[in-house]
Amino acid sequence: MGHVIIKDLCKDYVERRAAPRTANNHSAVDRGQQLRVLDQVDLEFHDGELVCILGPSGCGKTTLIRIIAGFEEKTSGTLLIDGKQVKGPSSENIFVFQHNGLLPWMTVWENAGLGVRKMGNEAEKAERIQEYIDIVNLSGFEHHYPHQLSGGMQRRAELARALVVNPEVLFMDEPFAGLDYLTRVKMREEIINMHEYFRKTIIFITHDIEEALTMGDRVVVFTERPAKVKLNVSLEYPHPRDFSCSVDLEQLRRTVYEELGVHHAL
Ligand SMILES: Nc1ncnc2c1ncn2[C@@H]1O[C@H](COP(=O)(O)OP(=O)(O)OP(=O)(O)O)[C@@H](O)[C@H]1O
Ligand SMILES: [Mg+2]
Repeated sequence: MGHVIIKDLCKDYVERRAAPRTANNHSAVDRGQQLRVLDQVDLEFHDGELVCILGPSGCGKTTLIRIIAGFEEKTSGTLLIDGKQVKGPSSENIFVFQHNGLLPWMTVWENAGLGVRKMGNEAEKAERIQEYIDIVNLSGFEHHYPHQLSGGMQRRAELARALVVNPEVLFMDEPFAGLDYLTRVKMREEIINMHEYFRKTIIFITHDIEEALTMGDRVVVFTERPAKVKLNVSLEYPHPRDFSCSVDLEQLRRTVYEELGVHHAL
């Protein structure tokens, strides 16, 4: 489960602005200019795949995630998750990981259990919450509040919350934004290990080319807005990945830099 098919997907935002009411125009809203954000996007995310998405700022990456997660409507095209049309957000199948998502008045334990509050059996629930707190290395911090944790620990608590839900598709939109470099590298490793263990579909948006090429089973590069798929490459390199030991990977890194219109060597 967790197979996403996107065909010919387009998204237009229509700028709405207030228009003066006149004798002939009783509508207070005038339809303004259309902004095409996604243009005939064709993609397939396979079950259990970790797909990293790169693209210039403002090209439409978050919009794409919001559409797949059912928070936003597409303008046209096909979108299927496990063969079914997406008609709205589904908390069981999909989880959107966002940073700064912890509730400050709740402990790590309570935050981690937020997504399974309605789950029946208390003992089973507690076992599951503890399992994921252990997996993200926060054992001993169950009763700490978010402000008592470091930035990296907060991200790990957020990750535990996502994993407790056990979603078929996990969306991560720049989850490491704001973390220092070393913590970020550690978090990458944790996601790779966690993904190897759980094998859920993860759609991971990042601006960091090395991060995408180190972590992904596949990397997708979008054009400037309106976003079209510019590059869609399978990364069949075993972990740990070392750019200096793989000519192909190093070449791919150069290609991705070029596709994004920046120089890899300065
Ligand atoms: N609700 C909205 N109404 C109108 N326009 C929107 C809306 N949401 C996003 N947009 C526009 O869609 C475009 C793409 O936005 P989006 O947030 O998807 O970009 P992004 O690729 O995630 O950028 P970044 O890398 O900076 O996060 C932007 O031009 C933005 O102004
Ligand atoms: Mg974004």
